[in-house]
Amino acid sequence: MTSNLDDLQGLGFVLYRSSARPGLDGAAMQDILRTARQRNQLLGLTGCLHHEDGLFFQWLEGPADSLRLVLSSLLNDERHLEFEILDQGALDHRRFQDWRMRFSDRDRASLMDWFARSDSSTVHRSDYAGGVVAFMMGIDI
Ligand SMILES: Cc1cc2nc3c(=O)[nH]c(=O)nc-3n(C[C@H](O)[C@H](O)[C@H](O)COP(=O)(O)O)c2cc1C
Repeated sequence: MTSNLDDLQGLGFVLYRSSARPGLDGAAMQDILRTARQRNQLLGLTGCLHHEDGLFFQWLEGPADSLRLVLSSLLNDERHLEFEILDQGALDHRRFQDWRMRFSDRDRASLMDWFARSDSSTVHRSDYAGGVVAFMMGIDI
């Protein structure tokens, strides 16, 4: 599934993990979500963001041009560090069609608990990325 976004024309996705800047508070979180939703609306992007134990996991999907634009913003955003792409590539259909950016945190559902309960391996990157997506898609909001 993984491929580079550089040459992609149609619908694509990016899944990444980053760590929240230490001290990032609720107000800053609301600010991130407000900007994200406004801009995603303009750019035709949908997806979800999960925040747990100081980590962000985000799935973004939409036109490849829009993804490239937002990715460059994300890479320069000092509200998170240690940005790491877990998976990216072409997509046949959207997984979060109705969400400009769904948000979840540990109170809603725990990724760490999900991994502890599941058979998914966290050792291999592709299994890890697949587990994160399965968790995200399984959250009932
Ligand atoms: C964890 C996190 C998730 C974000 N998600 C999005 C997003 O989904 N869409 C978006 O446009 N910006 C998102 N942002 C904000 C961008 O990094 C950036 O601040 C914003 O798009 C404005 O871009 P600009 O500063 O290049 O003008 C996110 C920021 C953080 C820290």
